[in-house]
Amino acid sequence: MNNFEREASELKKYMLEAAKKVIDSGHYILGGELKSFESSWAQVCCCEYGVGVGNGMDAIEIILRSLNIGPGDEVITTPMTAFATVLAIYRAGAIPVLADIDSQTGLLSLESVANCVTARTKAVILVHLYGQMSEMNNWVNFTRESKIFLIEDCAQSHLAELENKRAGSFGIAGAYSFYPTKNLGAMGDAGMVVTNSIDVFNKAVCLRNYGQTERYHHPEIGLNSRLDEIQAAILSERIKWLQGYTDIRRQIAKRYRVEISNPLITHMLSPVDEKSHSYHLFVIRCEKREHLQKYLLDNNIQTLIHYPIPIHKQEPCLDVLRDKNGLSNAEKHAQTALSIPCNPQLTLMEVNKIIDAINRYS
Ligand SMILES: Cc1ncc(COP(=O)(O)O)c(C=O)c1O
Repeated sequence: MNNFEREASELKKYMLEAAKKVIDSGHYILGGELKSFESSWAQVCCCEYGVGVGNGMDAIEIILRSLNIGPGDEVITTPMTAFATVLAIYRAGAIPVLADIDSQTGLLSLESVANCVTARTKAVILVHLYGQMSEMNNWVNFTRESKIFLIEDCAQSHLAELENKRAGSFGIAGAYSFYPTKNLGAMGDAGMVVTNSIDVFNKAVCLRNYGQTERYHHPEIGLNSRLDEIQAAILSERIKWLQGYTDIRRQIAKRYRVEISNPLITHMLSPVDEKSHSYHLFVIRCEKREHLQKYLLDNNIQTLIHYPIPIHKQEPCLDVLRDKNGLSNAEKHAQTALSIPCNPQLTLMEVNKIIDAINRYS
């Protein structure tokens, strides 16, 4: 699904130089490289502030805790996400509540979220699944009217854009992951909180560093979750390649949408605006998904499933609160969704081969 060894030798050279610069500087944590990356990524995301943290899951926990969301508070999110989204809610001490997804997009259904709101609801975590943003005005209005926070899980949506605003700038804060396989990935774990709220910014800066405000003063029970200088320097190099890589992802996705045509395959709903999708993943659906997956593997085409087990079917979450109407769309999606290769290292020949193989599937 990814071929990092194929990345341009020029990029590798710049990343090595960036890492060497940090090693030679003797300053490895909370230094100038982090400040510089925080400022450039926040700007890319149309946000005033960025707080580099250890990973995307910590970014969500830190946002929740920055908003004083914890024990007794309910946070609504989707069962069709990485386990980390929900784990972060548990880690903050809050109560996750799962709403169903829209069957056409795979994204949270606003109608189902509305069913889940109670007097204890403090926030919705909107996951821009596979890299797509949709109906952001509706989400902003709904959460404002319901007097709850809108938090964006942007782990898959680097550079996704709608009405000239980027993922992470619609709600109170956005959580980014720079896990190596993400569209903007580090050489290890990394994440960021982006926000336009000075209060969230100040609290997140404190929480990521043991709840410390000044040396040896700890007004909060914080975490140790800092994005280190080497990762920040590497990300600052990789950021320069991100737009080009995203353009390639979008071109591949466009070809898949137009050229994959097989009665056994269903496409997800096309985004209204191409820029609103960053195509971290390209997902198709098939009733005989396992059969298709094996057929593709026999043709040397790797695929993955995002996600085969919805959150409420995971062992620790069997009793999780949920929409009283059930989560049947998420369950169906989990049985039929298949992610096919969509990354900037794919060659034209490989894309042709993938399209051809899927069209020949019977
Ligand atoms: C939607 C989503 N949220 C959160 C995360 C967590 O990010 P990380 O692995 O950096 O903790 C991921 C990454 O797997 C993700 O895909």
